[in-house]
Amino acid sequence: MGAQIGIDLNHAAELLSGGKLVAIPTETVYGLAANGLDSTAVAGIFAAKNRPTFDPLILHVGSIEQAKTLCSQWPAAAEILANAFWPGPLTLVLPKAPQVPDLVTSDNPTVAIRMPNNPLSLSLIRSLPFPLAAPSANPFGYVSPTCAQHVADQLGDRIDYILDGGGCDIGIESTIVSVSNENQVTVLRLGGLDLEALSKVLGYPVKESLNMHSNPQAPGQLDQHYSPNSAMLHMGDFSIDAILKDLQTRGHEGLGFLWFSPQQAQSFIEQFDDQTQQSLTESPLKHYYLSNNHSDREAAMNLFGTLRQFDKDGCKRIYFSWAPDGGLGRAINDRLKRASSKVVH
Ligand code: TXA
Ligand code: MG
Repeated sequence: MGAQIGIDLNHAAELLSGGKLVAIPTETVYGLAANGLDSTAVAGIFAAKNRPTFDPLILHVGSIEQAKTLCSQWPAAAEILANAFWPGPLTLVLPKAPQVPDLVTSDNPTVAIRMPNNPLSLSLIRSLPFPLAAPSANPFGYVSPTCAQHVADQLGDRIDYILDGGGCDIGIESTIVSVSNENQVTVLRLGGLDLEALSKVLGYPVKESLNMHSNPQAPGQLDQHYSPNSAMLHMGDFSIDAILKDLQTRGHEGLGFLWFSPQQAQSFIEQFDDQTQQSLTESPLKHYYLSNNHSDREAAMNLFGTLRQFDKDGCKRIYFSWAPDGGLGRAINDRLKRASSKVVH
C-alpha cells in the first residue's frame, strides 16, 4: 500500500518526530524529509532514495535564527542573502555546527541550509524543534518531483506520508552557493534563483564553480542526473539528414521533440523544404513544449513534469533544443545537459 497523500500537518509532524519519512512540498521541487538532527532518520532518506552517502543533504529551516544554530559561522554575505531571498530558492553552504550529524553533510565540514517558500512546509518546520533534512523526493538520478503524485508514483511504498502542497511554482531545484568566512560567494549549482538576481543584491558578479564531473565538490552535480528513461539527444549535435534518417529507420513510435516553445519549434522547422517540414510534424511523432509563452519561468515550472511525461508516453528517444540563455534558461539547460549525458544505445 502506498503512502497517504494529504494536508494533515499534525500527522506529518508526529511522523517526523517519530523518525519517519514525509515528503514535503517546496516552491522548487518536493523534498523527502526527516529529522535532520537524527542520524537514524536521515539514514532512512538515503535508503529510500538509493542515494549514495557521499551526496550530502540540505537542511530546511523556518527562520534565520534556526539557520544560525546549524552553522559555526554566519558571515555578513549570508545575512544579506538570507534577508534578500529567504524564504526562497537559495541554499547557503556554510561551515557546519557540531550538532549537525556527519551523515547529513557526508563528512564535509560544511552544511547546506535553506528556508523553503511554501506555506504548508514552513508551518510544519516552524512547529518542529528540529530542521528537516530533505533531498529531492525522487529515486537517485531520476527527475525531481514537482507534484505529490510524482512522489507517490516512485517512492509511495517507501515513505510514510506525502504532504500535498499542489504543483511547485518554480519547478527546478534551488540555486546553491557557498559562502566563505571572507564573504566570498561561489555558485555551486544553478537553480531557481537566477544569478542576475544574486549579483544585484551582492553588488558584484558571483563566482561560479559548477562542476560537471564525477567526484564533484557540489556532489549533486554528477554528469548524469535528472534523467528520464528515454534517451535525450541534443538536436544541434545532429544534421537534419541524420534526424530524418532516424525517423525513417526507427519509425515515429517512441520518438519525439522537446522545444522551449512553439515559437522556437516553428523557426527551426520553417527553414526546411515542405517535405522535410512534413516529416518533422507528421503524427504520431510527438512535440513537447516547455512554455507556450516563451517564458523561462513557465519552462522551468514544466521541465521535470515534461521529462516524466516522455516516460509515461513510452518515448525512447527525444531530440531537444536548448532554452534561451537568460534568467532561468541557464539552469534549465544545465538540467537538460545532465539529462542527456546518459550513454545512449
Ligand atoms: O530545491 C532544492 O534544493 C530541493 C528542495 C527539496 O529543497 N532539494 C534538493 O536536494 O535539490 P538534493 O539533495 O536533491 O540536492 C542538493 C544538493 C546535492 O546535490 C548536494 O550535493 C548539495 O546539495 N549539497 C548538500 N550539502 C552540500 C555541501 N555541504 N557542500 C556542497 N554541496 C552540498
Ligand atoms: Mg536531487
